[in-house]
Amino acid sequence: MVSELINTNQLSKADPVFGQLSFDNHEQVVFCNDKDTGLKAIIGIHNTVLGPALGGTRMWQYANEWEAVNDVLRLSRGMTFKSAITGLNLGGGKAVIIGDAKTQKTPELMKRFGEFVHSLSGKYITAEDVGMETADMDTVREVTPYVTGISEDKGGAGNPSPITAYGVFMGMKAAAKYKFGTDVLEDRTVIVQGIGHVGESLVEHLTNDGAKVIIDDINQERLEAISKKYGASIYKGNNVYAEAVDIYAPCALGATINDTTINTIQAKVIAGAANNQLADELTHGRILQQKGIVYAPDFLINAGGIINVYAELENYGKQEIMRKTENIYNTTLEILSNAETNDITTHQAALNIALARIEARKKENQQ
Ligand SMILES: NC(=O)c1ccc[n+]([C@@H]2O[C@H](COP(=O)([O-])OP(=O)(O)OC[C@H]3O[C@@H](n4cnc5c(N)ncnc54)[C@H](O)[C@@H]3O)[C@@H](O)[C@H]2O)c1
Repeated sequence: MVSELINTNQLSKADPVFGQLSFDNHEQVVFCNDKDTGLKAIIGIHNTVLGPALGGTRMWQYANEWEAVNDVLRLSRGMTFKSAITGLNLGGGKAVIIGDAKTQKTPELMKRFGEFVHSLSGKYITAEDVGMETADMDTVREVTPYVTGISEDKGGAGNPSPITAYGVFMGMKAAAKYKFGTDVLEDRTVIVQGIGHVGESLVEHLTNDGAKVIIDDINQERLEAISKKYGASIYKGNNVYAEAVDIYAPCALGATINDTTINTIQAKVIAGAANNQLADELTHGRILQQKGIVYAPDFLINAGGIINVYAELENYGKQEIMRKTENIYNTTLEILSNAETNDITTHQAALNIALARIEARKKENQQ
C-alpha cells in the first residue's frame, strides 16, 4: 500500500505504466481500444481495499498517450484517498478517454466504453468527469449497471457537480475561518479558475455570500455568459496566479500549483474543485506551508460529487447527501489544525487519515 507522497509530475518515457513516477502500486490498468467507434480509453484501478473503485471518466484531447496514462494514474490514486477520507466504502479508480469531447464523443463510443467497464464485473464503477454529461452516463447505463451519476428521472442522483461545488464552498469557508478568523466571505476577493459545471455553481454560492468574484477560463463565450449571469468580473491580466486576491479556487484541470506558478501565487487561501492541484505533492505542499498559504486539500473538499453518486449505491437521500457534504467544513478545519500542530503539510495531514483508514480495513479483511 502507498506509504509516501508522490513527489513529481514528470513522465518517465522508459516504462509506460509500472515505470511511471505517478505509478503508485495501482492494482490494475486496462487499455481499451475499439476501431469502429474510435474509442481509446484507459481505466485505472488504484486500490479496492475499501470497496469497488469508483471514479469518473474524463474525455480530453491529450497531447500524447503518456499524458493520458499519467493522468489516469494520478486521478485514480486521488480517488482512493478521497473516498477513504470521506468515510465511504469505495476504492479508487478513474478512466480517461482520449479525444475531443465536443467532436468525437458519440453514443456508440460511450456504449462501447460501457462494455469495457462491464467486462470488469463491478471492480470499477464509472461516473462523470471533465468532458462528460449526465446524459453520457445514461448511455453507459444501457450496457452496464456499473455506472453512477445517471439522471434523476432514470433513478440516479443526477449531476454531481452542484454538490461538488457546495462541498468546495464548505471547504473554502473552513479554510477562510482558519486563515482570517471568520468564514464570512462577504467582500473577500475570490478568483475562480475554470467556470465549467463545478466552477459556475461555486460562483453562484460565492456571489450569494457577497464575495467579489473574478472568473478565468479559456472559453471566452462562457466567461461572458457567467459574468452576465452572476455579475462576476472577468480576469483580464496575463498571470492569474499573481492576482492579489484572498482566495484562489482552481476549478479547471490539475497541477496548476507547479514550479512555474508557485512563487507567483498571491492568494492567502487555495480551495478549489480540481483534482491533483499540486503538481508535486511534497515540494509544492511544503512551499505553500512555508509561505503561510492555507491549502485546503483537493481530495478532501471536492468529495461532494462522490458523496452524491455513492447515494445511488447505498440508497440514501438528498438530506444525507447534504449532511455528509456539509461535514467537509468540519473535516477541513480538523485537518488544517492537525497539520499545524504536527508541522506537516495540509495535504499530508489529509493523506495520513485516509491511509490509516485503508490500513485498518486491510487488517480487518485479513482476519
Ligand atoms: N464534476 C464534478 O462533480 C467533480 C468532482 C470532483 C472533482 N472535479 C474536478 O473539478 C474540475 C472541474 O470539473 P467540471 O466538471 O466543472 O469540468 P468542466 O469540463 O465542466 O469545466 C472545466 C472548465 O475549465 C476550463 N478550463 C480548462 N482549461 C483551463 C485553463 N487552462 N484555464 C482556465 N480554464 C480552463 C474549461 O474551459 C471549462 O470551462 C476538474 O478538475 C474535475 O476533475 C469535478
